[in-house]
Amino acid sequence: MKMKLHQTGNDLREKTRRAMIDLLNQQLSDVLDLSLQAKQAHWNVKGPNFIGLHELFDKVAEKLEEFSDDIAERAVELGGVALGTIQAVSKRSRLPAYPLDLVSGREHVTALSGALAKFGASTRDGINLAAKAGDADTADLFTEVSRGVDKLLWLVEAHLQAKD
Ligand SMILES: [Fe+2]
Repeated sequence: MKMKLHQTGNDLREKTRRAMIDLLNQQLSDVLDLSLQAKQAHWNVKGPNFIGLHELFDKVAEKLEEFSDDIAERAVELGGVALGTIQAVSKRSRLPAYPLDLVSGREHVTALSGALAKFGASTRDGINLAAKAGDADTADLFTEVSRGVDKLLWLVEAHLQAKD
């Protein structure tokens, strides 16, 4: 079903806006799923690196929440509807479900690194799709998000990159 767009003075072509709203909503589902995955890790991690990882995972979730707000609001700015309910997100997210039985820091770091890397890759694809569609601003937003996600990935996966 073709969703009705809201009237806007934004001069991007309707076809471009429609494509960008779909793309933004896809990325929104993934990033909302990802921020809950970071919270899941924040709440459940245990072991000798507990406090560092507990605090880091919360920072990751906080940063991802900022990105989700920017992505959702851009979909609305273009005349669309942000699809941000838990039901919509769970239907659309392309991330693997976060396992509920992880305990150690290494397990959580591995799982969250994988999810961050996957979202980073799809965000980079989004930059190219937005640029090709002629929406430099959505491309710019995704560039900012992917740069931020690369940094989060580094902060998390550094725990796996040396033994001591
Ligand atoms: Fe907390």
